[in-house]
Amino acid sequence: MHVLITGGAGFIGSHLVDHHLRKGDRVHVVDNLSTGSLDNISQHLTHPEFRFTEDDIVTWPDLNEVVSWADRIYHMAAVVGVFRVLERPIDVMATNIAGCERLLRAVHRCGWKPEVLIASSSEVYGPRTDERLREDMDLIIQPEAPPRWNYAISKLADEAFALSYARVHDIPVTVVRLFNTVGPRQTGRYGMVVPRFVRQSLAGDVLTVFGDGKQSRAFTDVRDTVVMLDEVAAKANARGLIVNVGREGETSIESLAHRVIERTGSDSEVEYVPYEIAYGQEYVDIPHRCPDLTRLHSLTEFRPKWTLDATLDDLIARARRTHGAS
Ligand SMILES: NC(=O)c1ccc[n+]([C@@H]2O[C@H](COP(=O)([O-])OP(=O)(O)OC[C@H]3O[C@@H](n4cnc5c(N)ncnc54)[C@H](O)[C@@H]3O)[C@@H](O)[C@H]2O)c1
Repeated sequence: MHVLITGGAGFIGSHLVDHHLRKGDRVHVVDNLSTGSLDNISQHLTHPEFRFTEDDIVTWPDLNEVVSWADRIYHMAAVVGVFRVLERPIDVMATNIAGCERLLRAVHRCGWKPEVLIASSSEVYGPRTDERLREDMDLIIQPEAPPRWNYAISKLADEAFALSYARVHDIPVTVVRLFNTVGPRQTGRYGMVVPRFVRQSLAGDVLTVFGDGKQSRAFTDVRDTVVMLDEVAAKANARGLIVNVGREGETSIESLAHRVIERTGSDSEVEYVPYEIAYGQEYVDIPHRCPDLTRLHSLTEFRPKWTLDATLDDLIARARRTHGAS
């Protein structure tokens, strides 16, 4: 199979690369390396079935040609991470919407129908507080939304584009709403909590919990996520649908901090940092966020293999090997 991965030098995208090369597929990545890194894919650069292009999805001149080559496309390229979203609220809208629309237009024009998976986010559920978030729920967009919501709005626009291309042009596209994904190669630089805690704990620094730490999230290991993405993309009955991808079982950010301290054996302490200080502006966090996985489970029998503790232990061991921390 020929696989195009936009944003394939990023965290999740690079694990998709590993997954498909392992399966014997041919993989082409386009990435502008804005948040992604060549280090994430460096082990494949000499692989005969792998090709990397450094370019922007919004302007890449070879997009049409490579889309015509592809049997499967994962659209992962996006401006992501709370810090970047708050700093660059216009880029988030412009890149995420224009990139997705350009890709879908290229698929429509290419004369054949590659399978397309569009990465959306649990952020589109906005301030909903339901115990389980279901794909067919009405969504709330706050009027006069602060930039914090631009990411969700851009992803909602991508979803609407994708479903419209599916309906109007019969493109085999599926939207996946990814919930918090964690694992190797995720960077804490743009606001992701797990890599920050691991780094702080191994350095013996204070673990900075934003807000009161009672907010909880359901974390999925990226190595499980990519298997679920591959399975969903392959399912004809997933076409034209939105599918939550994640796992159940929430953990509060405060207890995550204590778990990381315990598993690193560190004597770090936990400090609570108000959102205004952490992000330099007002920030509305969501108390909890857990997916309803009924639809996902109707499409795939695969169930995540990585527990959060196993992921944390793996990340801690990797960080120790890389930085020689004790
Ligand atoms: N990690 C999560 O928990 C999570 C949750 C929900 C949704 N998602 C979505 O999954 C996708 C991948 O996220 P990630 O966590 O791997 O983040 P990431 O930042 O590691 O990956 C995004 C990649 O896209 C690239 N990119 C950005 N703008 C680009 C452009 N204009 N042209 C080409 N490449 C560009 C970046 O360099 C990066 O490699 C994103 O669409 C994100 O919105 C991720």
